[in-house]
Amino acid sequence: MLTEIDFPITLTLDPENGILDPCPQITPRYLSDLKMMFKDQQVVDEILKEENRLIYEIRYYPFRTSKSDMALAVTRIFPGSIGGEYHMTKGHKHERDDQPEVYYCVKGEGFLLLDTLEGEFQAIPWRAGTITHIPPMWAHRVINTGTDLLVFIGVFHLSAGHDYEIVAQKGFSYRVYAVDGKPALIRQT
Ligand code: F6R
Ligand code: ZN
Repeated sequence: MLTEIDFPITLTLDPENGILDPCPQITPRYLSDLKMMFKDQQVVDEILKEENRLIYEIRYYPFRTSKSDMALAVTRIFPGSIGGEYHMTKGHKHERDDQPEVYYCVKGEGFLLLDTLEGEFQAIPWRAGTITHIPPMWAHRVINTGTDLLVFIGVFHLSAGHDYEIVAQKGFSYRVYAVDGKPALIRQT
């Protein structure tokens, strides 16, 4: 017999602004939360003296049942750059080595960076409608290279776990900068 929690749940997403309804959990990520992720630490410190900028927000819905733990997260990355480097997510690798994820870009333009942190790297150009499957063991980060909001959906299992530390330590192989107003991938040594 199904318990109450196993009944289907339907949500509504506004594709224009990435607002999810209902939404039990919103996590804001300010510049202070991901300051170490940007290359130019001097610029980060200068900006932080003036304002702790909101870089992106994550809206979660955990579809927990008695037998499963699938979750949906809608991320809204605001446009902008820090020292020429576009606004981006912190980036992480799933802790479990058998946990993939599906990302769907709803609005905006940018890149999905995928990196094994062991020598393999891919930058997937993103625009509204792009869907990417992220295999297990690939670190993932999304960059907003547009002048508008970038909205994307991620679907994953809550038990996947998130390892941010390994990204902070090793870093992605490339960073994405605005060069003459256009995105450029710059290899990191
Ligand atoms: C979940 C997932 C996304 C991100 C979100 C924010 O596994 O990949 O929901 O958590 O886009 O990015 P991070 O977690 O890197 O701050
Ligand atoms: Zn993930």
